[in-house]
Amino acid sequence: SQHYALIPAAGVGARMGAQIPKQYMTLAGKPMLLHALETFAAHPRIDHSFVVVSPEDGWIDALLPPALLAHTTVLRVGGATRQDSVFNGLQAIRAQAADGDWVLVHDAARPGLDGVLIDRLLDALANDAVGGLLALPVVDTLKRGDDQSRSQDTVPRAGLWAAQTPQMFRYALLQHALEQARQQDRLAAITDDASAIEMLGLRPRLVEGSPRNLKVTLAQDAALAEFFLKGPHA
Ligand code: C5P
Repeated sequence: SQHYALIPAAGVGARMGAQIPKQYMTLAGKPMLLHALETFAAHPRIDHSFVVVSPEDGWIDALLPPALLAHTTVLRVGGATRQDSVFNGLQAIRAQAADGDWVLVHDAARPGLDGVLIDRLLDALANDAVGGLLALPVVDTLKRGDDQSRSQDTVPRAGLWAAQTPQMFRYALLQHALEQARQQDRLAAITDDASAIEMLGLRPRLVEGSPRNLKVTLAQDAALAEFFLKGPHA
């Protein structure tokens, strides 16, 4: 079976407070989105990448180096939320993808993904009936705050993981899961792909990710992402 990367990159990056969408901000010398696209293109086990951008996107064409185009297809089908963008992307590749092909959904806002992490995910899931995701065990003590920002209680962190991406599922299963979520009006409520799989009663495998694979959400995250991208930090 094939391994396809599907990269939702149709967000506006409202929480960054920048003028351009965060996936196009320069990070360690190149637009954030390019880091993940180049990592996938360079990986021998990834057959092709599809990047989902907004239909009105005015940046992507100028940004993609010609060398990447052989490995990367731009889909101008981005939606209102991340999950809409993923759902639309899956629809758009329906003709290419077989039911049993793997799809690795990866946030453009996680530039620190590397080949070691891709290999770890592929090796862990090669014979898996469900699929899974990179994630990190939670190390902080977790508080549930009330609407006055007062701590009501402490949530035991045992068994809690912070989800990362890629999240990797067979094409037909992921498509079905997102379609079900959409029909039940739950698509907007979920923030990752694994949630939709869980709603089917299945249990995606948690594969250990890395701090370097952080999601750049706020302005201060960019400096940390650059630290990891510029050095040989595991
Ligand atoms: O905003 P957030 O960091 O949660 O976005 C995660 C990923 O989903 C980013 O790569 C962003 O570009 C993408 N996204 C999208 N379509 C949207 C919103 C976000 O593809 N409507």
